[in-house]
Amino acid sequence: MDFSEARPAVGVGRRIYIETYGCQMNVVDSETVMAIMAAEGFGRAEGVGDADVVLLNTCSIREGAEQRIWHRLDELAALKKRRRSGMVLGIIGCMAERLAEQIVAERPVVDVVAGPDSYRSLPMLVGEAVAGARGVNVELSKEETYAEISPVRLDASGVSAFVAIMRGCNNFCSYCVVPYTRGRERSRDPETILREVRELFDAGYREVTLLGQNVNSYNYELPVHVNFPELMRRVAAISPQLRVRFATSHPKDISDELLEVIAASPNICRAIHLPAQSGSSRVLAAMNRKYTREWYLERIAAIRRLVPDCAISTDIIAGFCGETPEDHAETLSLMREVGYEFAFMFKYSEREGTPAAREMADDVPEEVKTARLTEIIALQNELSLESNRRDVGREFEILVEGFSKRSQEKVFGRTSQNKVVVIPARSAHAAADHRPGDYVRVRITDCSSATLQGEQIV
Ligand code: 5AD
Ligand code: SF4
Repeated sequence: MDFSEARPAVGVGRRIYIETYGCQMNVVDSETVMAIMAAEGFGRAEGVGDADVVLLNTCSIREGAEQRIWHRLDELAALKKRRRSGMVLGIIGCMAERLAEQIVAERPVVDVVAGPDSYRSLPMLVGEAVAGARGVNVELSKEETYAEISPVRLDASGVSAFVAIMRGCNNFCSYCVVPYTRGRERSRDPETILREVRELFDAGYREVTLLGQNVNSYNYELPVHVNFPELMRRVAAISPQLRVRFATSHPKDISDELLEVIAASPNICRAIHLPAQSGSSRVLAAMNRKYTREWYLERIAAIRRLVPDCAISTDIIAGFCGETPEDHAETLSLMREVGYEFAFMFKYSEREGTPAAREMADDVPEEVKTARLTEIIALQNELSLESNRRDVGREFEILVEGFSKRSQEKVFGRTSQNKVVVIPARSAHAAADHRPGDYVRVRITDCSSATLQGEQIV
């Protein structure tokens, strides 16, 4: 079938719903897909129930993530069978990239399979599916950055948005599947980034998070060279009323130049997510992280020196190949030494095709991984609580994001350090309730390990 003429109509009268799993990059990718589909006439469904097209945007980072998606796929397959009107079911994202053949062979119910670099072909693939054929495209690209596409923002807060500035990863940490599912690193044209951020600010957004798998290796060569510190400087200059965050940084690229830009820009948030993964230099070498414990701690010292009020968070993997009790103890001591504000903590999960899976034995028994992870989580809870206690009595400016889950009488916002603060929706000083997008000066009155309580000050 020739779609060159039929294509513009493919979406008209059809509604699409995207269910997103995994990282923040997937959130932006879903928003980008929505923009691509909207340009072809597709409307937006409220949920699976009123959708003609359902896409699962998937994650492969750990075995558990994939299992959850297989399970969801079976639920949707049952739903599709019950429906008389038909439904196009698609798998997109990292799992589509990694397991395209298996999905096609084992799940005839799936009509569309598209990897992270082939979203521009989705209208055509869905069109083929509507016509009764299966559409598959999992080609990776060296150039695709979806640079000029303005994502359709799917979460309704209207305050904070993610902006993808680079894609892919060249680091090949030995445990990680990302370089294979998302391909090589490439940076997006800075002009398109600045235009998108300006549009967001004009639409009322007050915070952007610049995203990349390895965001601080951002590097755009032509016509003029723009590196990550320079990009940050330009984004921060858009407005002092716009908060700028970035994630995720690789420790090898957290340069003094970047820290100096942060120090000089009050609207660049005082929060750096700097995954250590392990505190043992021996394990870090096996992980191919390209730094040692000492080198990492030197970078932490540089952050403390140049941006003294900066919160630091991390990712930790428990039970990597060959990890001894001594290595694990070094991870705990690193966490204490840094005093992380926050951490994402995982058990090592072997991923087929990675160097660790090919060359190393996944030899830490499951119950040992669990025990180590439990210790890591308990320690982080202590560290988070200590950090929050230090904030009690201090003053911060928060950006209000919405109403508290527990009570309509309270709103929540974040400090520059990315900590959540809950305050009364109306205070004695204010004529009206605080609204999402408002900046409010607060004093912290109380805390738990997860949140701070505060009150407005003038
Ligand atoms: N097993 C466990 N955790 C992993 N991560 C990446 N790959 C794996 C894996 N195979 C973690 C790392 C990374 C975060 C996004 O996910 O900590 O920083
Ligand atoms: Fe994976 Fe390492 Fe790249 Fe992060 S930097 S995406 S952990 S390979």
